[in-house]
Amino acid sequence: MTQTPEATKIYKGLAGVVVDTTRISQVNSDTNSLLYRGYPVQQLADKCSFEQVAYLLWNGELPTVEQLSEFEQQERAGRVLADNVKAAVDLLPVRAHPMDICRTAASVMGANHPLSEDSSREANMRKALDLFAAMPAVVAYDQRRRRGLQAVPARDDLNYSANFLYMTFGEEAAPEVVQAFNVSMILYAEHSFNASTFTARVITSTLADLHSAVTGAIGALKGPLHGGANEAVMHTFEQIVKDAAGADGTGADGSGSGVSGSVVAGSVKSWLDIALADKKKIMGFGHRVYKNGDSRVPTMKAAMDRMVAHYNRPDLGELYSALESAMGEAKNIKPNLDYPAGPTYHLMGFDTQMFTPLFVASRITGWTAHIMEQLEANSLIRPLSLYDGVDEREVP
Ligand code: CMC
Repeated sequence: MTQTPEATKIYKGLAGVVVDTTRISQVNSDTNSLLYRGYPVQQLADKCSFEQVAYLLWNGELPTVEQLSEFEQQERAGRVLADNVKAAVDLLPVRAHPMDICRTAASVMGANHPLSEDSSREANMRKALDLFAAMPAVVAYDQRRRRGLQAVPARDDLNYSANFLYMTFGEEAAPEVVQAFNVSMILYAEHSFNASTFTARVITSTLADLHSAVTGAIGALKGPLHGGANEAVMHTFEQIVKDAAGADGTGADGSGSGVSGSVVAGSVKSWLDIALADKKKIMGFGHRVYKNGDSRVPTMKAAMDRMVAHYNRPDLGELYSALESAMGEAKNIKPNLDYPAGPTYHLMGFDTQMFTPLFVASRITGWTAHIMEQLEANSLIRPLSLYDGVDEREVP
């Protein structure tokens, strides 16, 4: 061996390692708080539009009325799916995971961009805004394509969230649904050096362009230990409902309707016991940074509750609470943001596989804010490794 293991401490998964400073957001696990540019995320979700929050993340301050109006005009003008992005999506199989669609679309948008090789702050701000404005069109297009439906053109008289839902479902959503969607976009927007943001910063540190960094970040977000968890939560619910419906004799239609609360509680417990005995990770629970509850959950849970009432689906609320309690009793592990976000998107009518692309549409704001910050004081991110393979030997 050429290295001395005793002298080298390994930080597996970089857990607990501080790799840089940031002015974009502060995750405080002691107080379970999350601040974007100093503002508590709960207050932003209560009082702001997602457009205001995007502006805040990129510029450091909330926009004035005039700044917001100009920003909204730019966003509304950019809600177009370029022909070759649409063509690239159409080349992919309908069964392809929607995250693969987003990743491909982001890549094509990068190749299209007139400022593709310009990484000045002005160029990156333009590219960030263009991606932010166009990604909902990609997600909505893909959701409709999966259902064999024609694309719905954007409406520039609707705000970001209302238009996103309109392009997806072809009709205007109720104001409370738009509001819950807006809350989810704000809560998903930014979370310091999480895996996908760090991926974006690593790629940026090589001086690669913004779209390359975003494309890589989308890949990192796809995994179920990160963004893919919101989708996985719904699969868990579907499985529990199926088991419960079998036990109840009501038949499993996957909707959860017709399954009584007591059957749900019993099924949740038996499902969880088996899953934990199999050493499975329960999706939507736990967090690398928060060990006593995710700061974003109460706000998202309140939005989910409003959707449960709006769509009259108390069974889903019961399932949510039953699994949360069972997990608390069994492991004392609390839900993360993906836990209430998944059922909320389900109630709104999105296919389960579309949930993580919704996270992409939101997190584009945080990723691109970090890309710009990384470039302000760049240093190539290149850690070391400790070799523990075979000793040096001669090729026979
Ligand atoms: N289900 C069951 N056990 C868990 C879970 C879970 N969801 N999370 C943590 N644990 C246990 C784990 O088995 C381990 O137990 P032990 O010490 O007995 O081996 C202990 O808690 C520590 O877990 P860890 O995996 O070492 O902790 P971590 O900080 O590496 O993991 C995590 C954080 C988010 C990867 C993990 O909690 C997890 O896999 N959760 C499920 C996936 C998920 O919901 N991801 C979304 C994260 S938040 C939104 C986002 O950023 O995208």
